[in-house]
Amino acid sequence: MCGIVGYIGDKEAFPILIKGLKRLEYRGYDSAGVALLNGNTVLYKRKGKVSDLEEHIGSQEVSGKIGMGHTRWATHGEPNDVNAHPHKSFNDKFIVIHNGIIENYARLKEKLIGRGYEFDSETDTEVLANLIEYIYLKGDVTAELAVRLALSKVFGAYGLVVMCKDEPDKLIAARKGSPLVIGVGKGEYFLASDATPIVEYTKSVIYLNDGDVAVIKKNELKLKTIDNEILTPEIQELSLDIGEIDKMGYEHFMLKEIYEQPKAIADTFRGRINSDCTNIHLGGLHAVWPDLENARRIIIIACGTSWHAGLVGEYLFEEFARIPVEVEYGSEFRYRKPVIYKDDIVIAISQSGETADTLAAIKLAKEAGATVLGICNVVGSSIPRETDAGVYTHAGPEIGVASTKAFTAQVTVLTMMALKLARKKYQISEDQFNHMVKELTLIPEKIEKALELNDHIKAIAELYKDCTNALYLGRGFLFPVALEGALKLKEISYIHAEGYPAAEMKHGPIALIDKEMPVFIVATKDSSYEKIVSNIQEVKARNGIVIAVVTQGDDTIKHMADHVIEVPETPEHLAPLLTVIPLQQLSYHIAVMRGCNVDQPRNLAKSVTVE
Ligand code: G6P
Repeated sequence: MCGIVGYIGDKEAFPILIKGLKRLEYRGYDSAGVALLNGNTVLYKRKGKVSDLEEHIGSQEVSGKIGMGHTRWATHGEPNDVNAHPHKSFNDKFIVIHNGIIENYARLKEKLIGRGYEFDSETDTEVLANLIEYIYLKGDVTAELAVRLALSKVFGAYGLVVMCKDEPDKLIAARKGSPLVIGVGKGEYFLASDATPIVEYTKSVIYLNDGDVAVIKKNELKLKTIDNEILTPEIQELSLDIGEIDKMGYEHFMLKEIYEQPKAIADTFRGRINSDCTNIHLGGLHAVWPDLENARRIIIIACGTSWHAGLVGEYLFEEFARIPVEVEYGSEFRYRKPVIYKDDIVIAISQSGETADTLAAIKLAKEAGATVLGICNVVGSSIPRETDAGVYTHAGPEIGVASTKAFTAQVTVLTMMALKLARKKYQISEDQFNHMVKELTLIPEKIEKALELNDHIKAIAELYKDCTNALYLGRGFLFPVALEGALKLKEISYIHAEGYPAAEMKHGPIALIDKEMPVFIVATKDSSYEKIVSNIQEVKARNGIVIAVVTQGDDTIKHMADHVIEVPETPEHLAPLLTVIPLQQLSYHIAVMRGCNVDQPRNLAKSVTVE
């Protein structure tokens, strides 16, 4: 979603801002803009990509050593040049960029109109800029105080950067619900929504907390609350490496990330599984194991692909640890007055750690007294900071909007948690435990094997790239994989796809089957193998096209299906980690063949920081 960059120091800000905006493109956006102060205000903004903005600016002079840049993902007002950020206040005193939503903007706007203010855009951000200016001029106060007073009057979420023409030596930043990171350089500071634009300049960062306001001069940083309480900034060292946010020769980030999965999974269990596979150590959960062991129930909360990982988690926890599990969408959970017990364990799963609905659901669970755990990929993001304990996935930065390696890393963590909990509760034998742990450590090399099928999968993609509908079926542990396969296809290729439990096909989707629609069936050898073979026959009996993901050497399905994709054998509990790989590849190739923007699909955002 929206991306923020800022710079103050001795360098020319413009190249830093543009490069930063390009680093943030992966978050998803529809317009971009920059503003600098150099005695005058320089402001350019444009609908479209950062490259459109650059083209629009052309060879015009853009100098200044303080500035801000923004990529906008439209919430209030359509994506166009006027609604793009930055926004200037009515009397040109302030320039503002903002991520999030000011919920009471309409009422504030009405009041400001009553006081003579006029508005160019339909955005809530311009209302905020004018509110700050109104307070500044009327109260004859400093820019910082005007910002803090204005923020005390708004409801909603924001990550915000403000410049004031009268005080051109500072950037003022504030955060509530929408992330902001400050990069600390020598005689310079950087600001961004996440660390990716910052890492090439400095590894020292400060993550703002909700309610923080930062007043940043080139040689000075003051951190305080909205109510002017002074805070001590906590400088942290980034572990992110610049190489991790480059394509490294791959055509797309998504492809790179698909191929990174063996490493992402190995990095996620490295140091957590001992060398003889007899123990799992999850340091981040150390303090909460007693709560986990005594949990009445586990509630998993997530959105999108992370929700699908959560479904795999349900099957794992129930089967191994024998604890009832519910898997909830953050957006539903937060508004439907759920029953939450103090002895519930709530596990929030999120790649970005910033998803607004998941964060809101966490707050609700905490208020109800439950123990809340996080499984996140982005270190220092909001969810790990809001939760009581948790486990990081070590998948590395995921830039492609369609999540791939984050999913398999999340499932890896869930598997480790479920096995460890099962062992602690004496629900599985030592032998079973050791066997499963050993099998988990073999997954990276099995994924390497699965990835070798790329050409075969590409050939299948060529055959079905023009379809308008697709059905994905799976049972048991492979049902969430069917959902994830369908999601991948619709996200990046814009083909309508549905994931279904294979047996449920009879209750609706079977009516769709014809000789045009591919039916992707995940059917590796497991406890429901015979059943899914029957489902394949049901599809074939109706002249459907079956593309089946099967266990290597499966001759039965080979004779029924139109195409098979063979993956190495693994216990059914781990099969999601392997079977999802060809489905990711298939979606990738179909999207490329259809000429779609794979890494930045239309309308989608990587980090959904608004509800
Ligand atoms: C967006 C992304 C998805 C992601 C979902 C949840 O929709 O495009 O790829 O699965 O958000 O994000 P999270 O960061 O919480 O896992």
